[in-house]
Amino acid sequence: RAAKKQQQQTLESTVQAACDFYQQQLNHNQAALNYVQQQRGLSPEIIAHYGIGYAPDDWRALAQIAQPYPNTALLESGMVLDNEGKQYDRFRHRIMFPIRGVSGNVIGFGGRVLDDSKPKYLNSPDTPLFDKGKNLYGLYEARQAIKDVGRILVVEGYMDVVALAQFGIGYAVAALGTATTAEHIKLLFRHSDSVYFCFDGDGAGRKAAWRALENALPQLKDDKSLHFLFLPAEHDPDSFVRQHGAARFEEALLHQSKPFSAYFWDVLTENSDMTSQEGKAELVKHAAPLLRQITQAPTLLYLLKQKLSEITGIDPNNLAHLMGQAAPKRH
Ligand code: UTP
Ligand code: MN
Ligand code: MN
Ligand code: MN
Ligand code: MN
Repeated sequence: RAAKKQQQQTLESTVQAACDFYQQQLNHNQAALNYVQQQRGLSPEIIAHYGIGYAPDDWRALAQIAQPYPNTALLESGMVLDNEGKQYDRFRHRIMFPIRGVSGNVIGFGGRVLDDSKPKYLNSPDTPLFDKGKNLYGLYEARQAIKDVGRILVVEGYMDVVALAQFGIGYAVAALGTATTAEHIKLLFRHSDSVYFCFDGDGAGRKAAWRALENALPQLKDDKSLHFLFLPAEHDPDSFVRQHGAARFEEALLHQSKPFSAYFWDVLTENSDMTSQEGKAELVKHAAPLLRQITQAPTLLYLLKQKLSEITGIDPNNLAHLMGQAAPKRH
C-alpha cells in the first residue's frame, strides 16, 4: 500500500519533470516555436497556460531528466519504450500537450508532428496515472470558465481546445483520441448540467458525435442537457474560430446546435422513408434498443416515446408492446 503510493508519486514527479523539460525545450528550438506561434497562431500566454512544449529530435532526450536511463518510472509512465532491449523516448520531434488530472497534476501527453508525417498525434498509453476513458484534455484548465458560463463544450482535438481558449472560449475539453465514453459523460455532467458537442465537420466527426450520443444514453437525466453542433464539412472548431471569430462560433453553438432529441430523430429517420409502413417499422426497430438504455430520465423517455408514436401513428400502448419485441442492437 505504502509502496504503491510511493510508486505513484515517483511516476507523477517523472511525468512532471518531462513536462517542465519539454516546455524549456520549446524556447530553445526555433522550428518548434515557429510552428506553434507562426503556423498555428498560438500566443505565448496560451502556450504557457496549457504548458505546451517540444520533445527534441533525439532518441534519449529524457536521459537529461532521469537517471539511470531508462528507469522504472520512465518505462511505467510510457515516456520510454522498450523494443527488444533497446530503449528510446516515445515522443521525439513533436509539439507536446500535457494532459492534467483532476488536481492539475500532469498524467500524460499528446504529441503532434510538425509536418504532414504520420501518425499526426501520439498519445501516452494508459498507465497507473492515466486512463484515457476517464480523463479529458483541458478539463483542469477549463474549470473556472465552465463555472462562469454554465456549460461545457466537447471537441475532438487538442488544437481545438487551445485555439478556442485563445479566442476567449475557455470551457472546451477534448476526448483523448478515443470515443467519448460513458465515464466521460459522467465526468462532464459532474462539471455542468449543459454539455455541448462540436466535432469536426467531416464524416469522422459526425460518426464521433453519434457514438457520443449512444454512450450518453444511460447517463441522461431529466435535468441535464446535451447539444450537438455540426460545423461545415471543411471546418473543425480551431479553423472555424480563426476564420469566423468567437462571436460567430458561440452564436452557432447556442442557436444552431441540435438538442439531443432533435439529433436523435434526425439520424434515426434520415435513411428510411417515414411515409411508408416499412420505414416506420424500421424506425421502431432501430429506436427501441436505444430508448431502452435511457434509464435515468423518465420524463425525457416518456416524451421520446410519445414522439415515436406521433411519427409512426402507432398507438402508445401498442408501441410499448412492439418495442419490447425488437432485438437489442449489437455494438
Ligand atoms: P484531427 O485529425 O482532427 O486533428 O484529430 P486536429 O486536432 O484537427 O489536429 P491539427 O489541427 O491537424 O493539429 C482529432 C484528434 O484525434 C486524435 C487527437 O486527439 C486529435 O487531436 N488523433 C488524431 C490521434 O490521437 N492520433 C492521430 O494520429 C490523429
Ligand atoms: Mn478530424
Ligand atoms: Mn480536427
Ligand atoms: Mn485541426
Ligand atoms: Mn467557413
